[in-house]
Amino acid sequence: MNIAIIGSGGDGAGMNMCLYQLCKSLKNHNIKLFYRGYQGLIDNSVAQFSINQLKEVKNKGGIIIKSSRSPEFMTKQGFEKAINTLKKHSIDVLIVMGGNGSLKGSKEIVKAGINVVFVPTTIDNDIEESDYCMGFDTAVENAVDFVNKVDTSMQAFDRTCIYEVMGRHCEDIANAVTQKTNSDFCYTTKSKKTDMLKKIKEVLKTGVSPKIILQENVINADELKAYIQKNISDIDVKVAIVGYVQRGGNATAKELGMAKGFAGQVVKAINNNQKNVMICYKNNQGFMANKI
Ligand code: F6P
Repeated sequence: MNIAIIGSGGDGAGMNMCLYQLCKSLKNHNIKLFYRGYQGLIDNSVAQFSINQLKEVKNKGGIIIKSSRSPEFMTKQGFEKAINTLKKHSIDVLIVMGGNGSLKGSKEIVKAGINVVFVPTTIDNDIEESDYCMGFDTAVENAVDFVNKVDTSMQAFDRTCIYEVMGRHCEDIANAVTQKTNSDFCYTTKSKKTDMLKKIKEVLKTGVSPKIILQENVINADELKAYIQKNISDIDVKVAIVGYVQRGGNATAKELGMAKGFAGQVVKAINNNQKNVMICYKNNQGFMANKI
């Protein structure tokens, strides 16, 4: 079989491990790696890596074949170019590691008659069909490490800190980081400023500096800071944006295990001739391949 593999959209740790496992397990097939996701298909940008090169980076975050968000793929011409590349290489299966936007793209590719196996990959963990998306655990652990490190300084100066975490429109990262850092308030779309204020006042009475975890895209962090300062006199508030550190570094041990699990299920799906499937992880049932 001719199998193409791409990574698309925001990178998530685990992608390199998944890629390595796929190339190792599917070595009897003809595998073509493409750079930069859908853009690489448009540009016919084939990547050459030996299995040893893939092995070297398997524990690292990022993705050796690179990723991108491709506005061109959303155009009729761009989409047709991508399909032509797949046809030119006689691709029987396209494996896509990507998030929500990439899933939409994959559905279009399926409609164009090409078989896709999709691996949910996004730190946001917001693909509803799967309880786990590759990249989430590492993003949480990176944010936890960031908050814990910054907090030592905040406590030394009796400063309250608002930590803004990534997650696009999903509160999973914010909730997990709040819990794992034992933070005082998780500010999401459901939160009320008055509840946060009440909590800050309670915590201040104990002599500890409050930690607020803020989900991105909910409210401007500086606006939240100004609100706190307006309502509590003499409070020193700082804002720390966790940002891309969440997508950096090495994959966690859990992530590496999940990446292997996703890759294993892709291989099963291909060997069982399952077409147009998305690999899902269900908390009580493990990995499965469901129709896209
Ligand atoms: O979807 C993953 C994510 O990291 C979001 O959490 C964040 O809002 C966004 O991507 C950042 O996008 P970009 O990498 O294009 O700046």
